[in-house]
Amino acid sequence: MRILAIETSCDETAAAVVERMTNTPETRSNVRVLSSVVASQADLHARTAGVVPEIAARAHVEAITFVIDDAVREAGGKRGHVPGDIDAIAATTEPGLRPALVIGETAARALAVAWGKPFIPVNHLAGHIAAAWLVSDAQSAVSHRFPAIVLVVSGGHTQLWRLDRRPAKASAEAGEGFQLRLLGQTRDDAAGEAFDKIARLLGLPYPGGAALARLAERGDACEVALPRPMIDSKDFYFSFSGLKTAVFYLVRGRKLSEQERADIAASAQEAIVDVLVAKTVDAAAREGAAEAILTGGVAANARLRSRLRDALGALPLVVPHPQYCTDNAAMIGAAAVLKLEIPMPS
Ligand code: KG4
Ligand code: ZN
Repeated sequence: MRILAIETSCDETAAAVVERMTNTPETRSNVRVLSSVVASQADLHARTAGVVPEIAARAHVEAITFVIDDAVREAGGKRGHVPGDIDAIAATTEPGLRPALVIGETAARALAVAWGKPFIPVNHLAGHIAAAWLVSDAQSAVSHRFPAIVLVVSGGHTQLWRLDRRPAKASAEAGEGFQLRLLGQTRDDAAGEAFDKIARLLGLPYPGGAALARLAERGDACEVALPRPMIDSKDFYFSFSGLKTAVFYLVRGRKLSEQERADIAASAQEAIVDVLVAKTVDAAAREGAAEAILTGGVAANARLRSRLRDALGALPLVVPHPQYCTDNAAMIGAAAVLKLEIPMPS
């Protein structure tokens, strides 16, 4: 099964062609990336220090046809004839910025009608989770273990999920039968939002997460005491807005030296990482997890990756390649291939 996928939920215009790998039972559920094109609007939104939905939507309109064309051409070069080879068109339909989402969905639905292919709606968070199944070739195929604990950390979400696999269905194409259960999530800001807002307080341009991580490399995380909100709450809920407020009062009215800025960046990063790691390790223990998955834009953070890997000990940790942690369309294609769906809130 080969899918053209489109993602426009926030500030990346993305298209990709992916296909289910069918060679062995172990790798059957892996999804091979034939092309993945991402046009970022980060520079555009740096001017307003955040995403203005209408401006994002306009930029998606301008980029979308070129991005789809590039993804289709690149995949066609690697394999067969596209679009004749494409079985379905998928697009992110929720959650995200409404005016931005409709651009990708409309483009996908129009292509589905024009090419006579089915349209598959995909939840953006299912996409982030399905990114753990993406591979570039048969050699890099991964065999997942269940139950898995999934930490999704992005600009809009911080969630802990339990992922189970239902008994295999008769037909290989009948869906993988995954089942997701939400264990907890943030009560206010997402982890990525905390990174971005603290980065802004330190004068870094939008989106500040990666820049804050770079600044933190030169800082000492022990220099500044910052809170670890809800770290002892004994549940899987998070809160990051208090941390942002603590940094606000710390920097307010002060002229910081370069070293002080780096120390605050390192301390803030450590505080966020401490909470994420502690809750994920607890969730893995409570649920008897056989594997942990770390995904979403903040999973590109090297400190979080290495701290979580250490803390989990012998438990395997699967982290998608950084290019598939931040928003992309290959992950949306993977969720469509795997039929991974987010359950309705009960
Ligand atoms: O998943 P994503 O691309 O978009 C959303 O679905 O929100 O995540 C974007 C978030 C932003 O908050 C960005 O600052 C953060 O991921 N991010 C990072 C890093 N790279 C991206 N945060 C910390 N360290 C990074 N290296
Ligand atoms: Zn995302």
